[in-house]
Amino acid sequence: MDTEKKINDAIANPQNMGEMTDADSVGTVGSPECGDMLRMWLKFKENEGGKKVIDRASFQSFGCQTAIAVASVATQLLAGKTIEEARNLDSSDLSADLGPLPPMKIHCGQMVEGALRDALDADAGIEKAAVEPAQRNNTLLDSFGPPADAAPAMKSGKLKVVKLED
Ligand code: FES
Repeated sequence: MDTEKKINDAIANPQNMGEMTDADSVGTVGSPECGDMLRMWLKFKENEGGKKVIDRASFQSFGCQTAIAVASVATQLLAGKTIEEARNLDSSDLSADLGPLPPMKIHCGQMVEGALRDALDADAGIEKAAVEPAQRNNTLLDSFGPPADAAPAMKSGKLKVVKLED
């Protein structure tokens, strides 16, 4: 099956799409190339060996079909991975089940990687605190700009958009 068909199949039946209200961590990225955004939620658990692993991952995306396809296969791949294993995955690993992405769409996979890294950083306490309940319930659309009645966590900038490197 070629990449285009696999992408179309993933778009037709995306897995793990939607907010995760009991997430332990969330990451959000915006692509400077196309203006699209993607958010990924992670839930952790301890495996039989006592290691912290990703129990499940979910995502929300607007605009880009390829990013939805990559996030769908990536969130399936992430289940059961340790933090270290997840950190070692790059965008081509995350999108491997779809086959090589066309050059114009490589940044779509990088956006998924960026959201994953942002969520892992958030869990590690890098640059921002752990997800607060007020943040978990916001939709991706909300994050385009905090509304006037936004929760303090939104206004304080703890939920930030991370630009990918050019
Ligand atoms: Fe920009 Fe896909 S076209 S993320």
